[in-house]
Amino acid sequence: MIITIDGPAAAGKGTLSSKLAQKYNLAYFDTGMIYRAVGVDLITKGVNPDDETQALASAQSMTFSKMMDLSKHTDFRSNLGGQAASKVASQTPVRHALLKMQQDFALNPQFENGQKADGVVYDGRDTGTVVCPNADVKIFITASPEVRAMRRHKEFIEKGLDSDYEEVLAQTKERDLRDSTRATAPLKPADDAIIIDTSNLAIEEVFNKVCAIIDSKI
Ligand code: DC
Repeated sequence: MIITIDGPAAAGKGTLSSKLAQKYNLAYFDTGMIYRAVGVDLITKGVNPDDETQALASAQSMTFSKMMDLSKHTDFRSNLGGQAASKVASQTPVRHALLKMQQDFALNPQFENGQKADGVVYDGRDTGTVVCPNADVKIFITASPEVRAMRRHKEFIEKGLDSDYEEVLAQTKERDLRDSTRATAPLKPADDAIIIDTSNLAIEEVFNKVCAIIDSKI
């Protein structure tokens, strides 16, 4: 079974996707990680993420193990890392270079320990539209920019990172704009996706709603 969970930054995709993966014995692929890996790879080399030649070279050499190594970098989940990821993700050649890696994962889905999974939960921006247009269940979750910025701000504080709510809000809006207006695979729900606004919902409520949708399909 393939489930896609798309939506803007900090809509709650990660928490929802990992809970679903656990419940349905599916592997979890956070596709934002590969864009973050390319972004952080460039940052660590002192390269501007807008440098399309270098970004493409990094994307072409990206592997799962390199991505996991880069995920340990302090900027992998920071605002700087998020902005860099959004910038490289807006470049069409980078998206093309990273597509096969994402699609191939569904051919032989595995958990981190190498055991076989019954399918995949993909989390991203274009997983229902581009990566897996034939997914069994497509969900698009969203929330207001203010609610999402507050969630991100709290996450940063909990991790002991410096954070200013107004700055996080401005960057959330900036990323939304870039993610939804880029030329290739802009952030938008697939025609057959079910849209859920999580602004006023607790994670358990979102989870229960999505489980009901999945259960009605299997
Ligand atoms: O989900 P995230 O915040 O980790 O994603 C980081 C960036 O990567 C985000 O700004 C847009 C990009 N992204 C994308 O363009 N397509 C995806 N499938 C996943 C992420």
